[in-house]
Amino acid sequence: MAGPNYVAAPLKAITREMIVEIARRTVSYGPLKEATYVGLGALEFVDFRLAYERLGIETLISIEENHPLERLEFNRPYDGIRIMQGTTNSKLPEIEELKSSRCVIWLDYTSRLRQSEQRDLAYLASVLAPGSALFVCLNRVASERDLDVVRSEFGDYFDESLPKTSYIGPNLADRQREVAERVVRKHLATRVDLASVELVIDVRYADSAKMQVLGWVFGPVGADVSADCRLAELDFTTIARDGAPLDLAWPSLTLPEWNALSKQLPATLDSMVPPHKWVGEEHIQRFLTLHRWGRPMAAANA
Ligand SMILES: C[S@@+](CC[C@H](N)C(=O)[O-])C[C@H]1O[C@@H](n2cnc3c(N)ncnc32)[C@H](O)[C@@H]1O
Repeated sequence: MAGPNYVAAPLKAITREMIVEIARRTVSYGPLKEATYVGLGALEFVDFRLAYERLGIETLISIEENHPLERLEFNRPYDGIRIMQGTTNSKLPEIEELKSSRCVIWLDYTSRLRQSEQRDLAYLASVLAPGSALFVCLNRVASERDLDVVRSEFGDYFDESLPKTSYIGPNLADRQREVAERVVRKHLATRVDLASVELVIDVRYADSAKMQVLGWVFGPVGADVSADCRLAELDFTTIARDGAPLDLAWPSLTLPEWNALSKQLPATLDSMVPPHKWVGEEHIQRFLTLHRWGRPMAAANA
């Protein structure tokens, strides 16, 4: 079995586009052709095609702990992709390019923010060159019965003074963001070159699982990363949203309903007229949030 189909998930596809748009803005700090992309390509390498075709990055490195090397090498779209077999914890420190070039890193995890993911963030924040961008995808699901597991996953960052409900349901995503931010900033502060950093994306979505994308751009000493990369122009960034996370949900619309709404664009929630009474405001809002990124055909596999 090849595992989940990472090609078909429509909301994940939108987050990939957002990552590409942000990563492209780091061109303010130098050409992307000379940068390095490090990701978890799985068997489909969808993110690697984007890194090469859309960003023009030529040094491409995929880390994978589960699939056999021969199968990964057969499936890689370009022979130039270097595949490293093992965990990110063990392989990231072996990548010289992390220290010698600007990088775009996307650790597309399937787990929550456990201590092992915290270790990756800590390591990267301590070595990444200014002008690099770092993204992580995290699972954001925990119920009351998972609380002990979540406590051990958070480790020293679990705050016993908070109500237990802070770590379950939709609140977990807020805790993960706080902890990820603290880890990145703590380890950046240990550097002699004292780069600056900005949290640039917090998108929460659910295709088959509830997930969260967080990302940071690292700038030179004293840089205003948001201004240098003009991130306020991208309406999905935390910069444009005054720090607020963005929730993505697919609207429940047929193709003719989607088309009826499309014809009214550009529009606002107030100006939009539903095609009939069964298309409610919630789904029109969802449509407005993501119509620029997705197509109803893509939703067929959601
Ligand atoms: C979500 S998939 C990657 C999908 C791909 N990035 C895309 O855009 O479609 C994550 C892959 O990384 C692997 N993986 C997850 N966490 C890992 C880790 N910490 N170290 C190494 N491999 C990991 C999984 O086995 C899986 O194949």
